Amino acid sequence: MIVVGVAGGIAAYKTPALIRLLTEAGHAVRVVPTENALRFVGAATFEALTGWPVRSSVFDQAAGVDHVALAGEARLVVVAPATADLLSRYAAGRASDLLTATLLATRAPVVVAPAMHTAMLEHPATVANLAALRARGVTVLDSPAGRLTGSDSGRGRMAEPTDIFSAVQGLLRPADFAGLRVLVSAGGTREPVDPVRFLGNRSSGKQGLAIAAAAARRGAEVTLVAANVSAPPPFGVEVAQVETALELQAAMTERAADADLVVMAAAVADFRPAEASTSKIKRHGKDGLSLELVPNPDILAGLVERRRPGQVIVGFAAETGDQFGSALEHGLAKARRKQADLTVVNVVAGGAVFGGDTNDVVLLSRDGERLGEIAASKGDVAEAILDTVRPWLAKSL
Ligand code: CTP
Repeated sequence: MIVVGVAGGIAAYKTPALIRLLTEAGHAVRVVPTENALRFVGAATFEALTGWPVRSSVFDQAAGVDHVALAGEARLVVVAPATADLLSRYAAGRASDLLTATLLATRAPVVVAPAMHTAMLEHPATVANLAALRARGVTVLDSPAGRLTGSDSGRGRMAEPTDIFSAVQGLLRPADFAGLRVLVSAGGTREPVDPVRFLGNRSSGKQGLAIAAAAARRGAEVTLVAANVSAPPPFGVEVAQVETALELQAAMTERAADADLVVMAAAVADFRPAEASTSKIKRHGKDGLSLELVPNPDILAGLVERRRPGQVIVGFAAETGDQFGSALEHGLAKARRKQADLTVVNVVAGGAVFGGDTNDVVLLSRDGERLGEIAASKGDVAEAILDTVRPWLAKSL
């Protein structure tokens, strides 16, 4: 049984669509709205969709509708929309109504889909509440930008019901990576030019984080080597922070020795300044500046060279088309050249993938066979990558 919590925000009008998707997928659903949620959508709607009575208060004496029973029976609790007030009460551990009491009592996975005005979402209080919830293992969905309630627009819309649904389905997956060790690199390296400057790239690290999160959720023991990633690391994942390509290489090489699956999602600088200046390079008295760059090692190539029998290695290829071929042709050549077991090719058109929440990728085998293609959220792309490599990993369920 899945508990759908509904807080009092206008986005509640979309929650029936989520409930529909859940019931059609075969889940029993119980809806727990706050009192204010019922100002937006009537109890009759929720009752008709689920076939269960709807209550908001712990003092409503409907048989079977008490927070401890709901909390104990739930396989998962999803709160959509989660308003600033609900998130604040949840983060503070309050139990002032049936929904917050259920959230406090449950040990099931919890997903929240925040929805509020941009100003409220970006207020330090809300930011801190979301960080606290994430640190406790709550899955916080992104609140995409778009049209808000009034005439203005910005971040803070509730995730689409279909996206909330796939996040829920992802969390309910069997732990098919239990007993497997997964090593993921994410982010982008920074190569120091002097104490205040570096050569970097536009990788946000979100795809790597999504892979680490998905693998952890599916039961793997996950280590994340994070190169300058600003987003918080997923819950339950061991994190090693690195900055440069050489640090990334050392961290990956050491940890790859006992990993079953290695994913090189980090964007590595191919070159670094031959020598980083120990003091700040001054503009004064110079007409221009030339930096001498030397090549960085190809970390993925080194990992492939040392691949243990049974170990699976995934590489990425962010490609653009040019006069020598299309983005996919370059990806194909890279897959064959680098010999990772799986190469995830993403087509970079005008920087579209960087920092965004979606990705458009083609999955290629070692000899360039096209294994799949997916354009979806980075979370769904992560699941597809794990689905593809799972049969290649020796340990069975
Ligand atoms: N990679 C790596 N070490 C490098 C460069 C890249 O391990 N010095 C890894 C990336 O993490 C990614 C894959 O190799 O998994 C492909 O990265 P990409 O930058 O697309 O390829 P390059 O090898 O740099 O090839 P090119 O610059 O010629 O496109």
